[in-house]
Amino acid sequence: MSEGVNNSKGKLFGLGVGPGDPELVTMKAVKLLAQSDVVAFPSAKASGGNARKTVEPYLTENHELLPLIYPVTAGPVADTSSYLPLMNKFYDETAEEIARILDKGKNVSIICAGDPFVFGSYMYWHARLSDRYDITVVPGISSILAAPVQLGMPLCHREDTVSILPATLSEDELVERLNQCGSAVIMKLGRTFPKVVRALEKANIIDNAYYVERATMEKERIFPVKDVHPNDVAYFSVIVIPCEKPV
Ligand SMILES: C[S@@+](CC[C@H](N)C(=O)[O-])C[C@H]1O[C@@H](n2cnc3c(N)ncnc32)[C@H](O)[C@@H]1O
Repeated sequence: MSEGVNNSKGKLFGLGVGPGDPELVTMKAVKLLAQSDVVAFPSAKASGGNARKTVEPYLTENHELLPLIYPVTAGPVADTSSYLPLMNKFYDETAEEIARILDKGKNVSIICAGDPFVFGSYMYWHARLSDRYDITVVPGISSILAAPVQLGMPLCHREDTVSILPATLSEDELVERLNQCGSAVIMKLGRTFPKVVRALEKANIIDNAYYVERATMEKERIFPVKDVHPNDVAYFSVIVIPCEKPV
């Protein structure tokens, strides 16, 4: 908690809710959800995103739901020059909306798929509110950890290093990093997929690359990357390059 926090204000909880299976939500997140008056969820549409679906079993009629609808859904190949100002305005405005609720003494949870500090939108509200309010952040099981487990192949052992790569990097940078990496998880797929496949081919690791879509969710799908059609790639997917089989 930072200095100057007024205790009559509500508390803010930044909750990582894991990769999708409701049973992978931590006990701490469930406890803080139960203490929340308002549950805010970032989403592309008002009907709710994956994080909201994940916590559905833990919501009650006493919870007020606050959708935080992204103004743009440019996805992983966003044109950052137009995307970033719009997103900054969105985070500024919604942070103030949340601040007004906290000022009334209500507790607010902002839920986030996976872990809140791993490519999670929550961090942008955290940056705007953490010096003014009492905040608790709860880690969640990231897709980085869930995907190799669903794949059934370990990510790292002994002296292995692991690279976490956003697919939005340029093809050259992906090749450079893949050439050096031991194991890797590539995130934010979708329209970036053909570029990533070319980079995997150039780095000569395409045969050890696996596509894991919606890890731990009902419609989970797992294939070798070679067998995936680029038109059939979901945003909620990662590519896992596992470590050598431990013996
Ligand atoms: C905005 S980032 C959020 C990451 C999240 N905070 C985490 O720790 O997993 C969204 C990306 O996470 C990955 N992702 C999140 N959940 C996933 C899941 N259940 N299965 C596969 N990929 C997932 C995808 O690469 C997606 O493009």
